Amino acid sequence: MNIKLDYSISSDEFLEMVESVGWKTYSREQVEKALKNTMYMVKATIDGKLAGIGRVVGDNSIVCMLTDICVKPEFQGHGIGLKITLELKKLIEENVSTGEKMQIELTPTAGKEAFYQKAGFKYKPDKITGMYLWIKK
Ligand SMILES: CC(C)(COP(=O)(O)OP(=O)(O)OC[C@H]1O[C@@H](n2cnc3c(N)ncnc32)[C@H](O)[C@@H]1OP(=O)(O)O)[C@@H](O)C(=O)NCCC(=O)NCCS
Repeated sequence: MNIKLDYSISSDEFLEMVESVGWKTYSREQVEKALKNTMYMVKATIDGKLAGIGRVVGDNSIVCMLTDICVKPEFQGHGIGLKITLELKKLIEENVSTGEKMQIELTPTAGKEAFYQKAGFKYKPDKITGMYLWIKK
């Protein structure tokens, strides 16, 4: 399987991906704004076909968040999700200066912790539990 990584995601591609995994979708306008404000984004294609995406958002200095990691159902289980996650991690690492540190946060859906552990993320539910809140208008 020839997995190619790129560093841009169009709003069409983003919407195609989130819809493919059944996530709540957004307006094109909101997606365009989100992509414009993204720190790092990675897209995986297989023989030219869109297979997966992932993003990092944050303050570009102290803290950032891994988000929207998703692989189309027909391409899951071939190492694409891990490849995207490791590439995003590498992009962050390359931009942390010597003597500095930056935290990468993420909020995995239940059962996905082991996937992120493969990319080096720590899972310590006795110490840290993720929380979230949707603001809807
Ligand atoms: C989660 C997701 C991104 C994984 O992508 P993927 O390309 O299928 O995963 P990979 O093939 O890269 O898996 C890498 C490793 O993680 C493991 N893994 C993958 N999904 C896992 C899961 N849900 N639970 C535990 N381990 C998992 C794989 O077994 C593999 O391990 P191995 O290297 O020992 O064989 C993908 O299933 C997906 O898009 N799911 C729907 C959207 C979603 O839930 N995204 C995450 C939101 S937090």
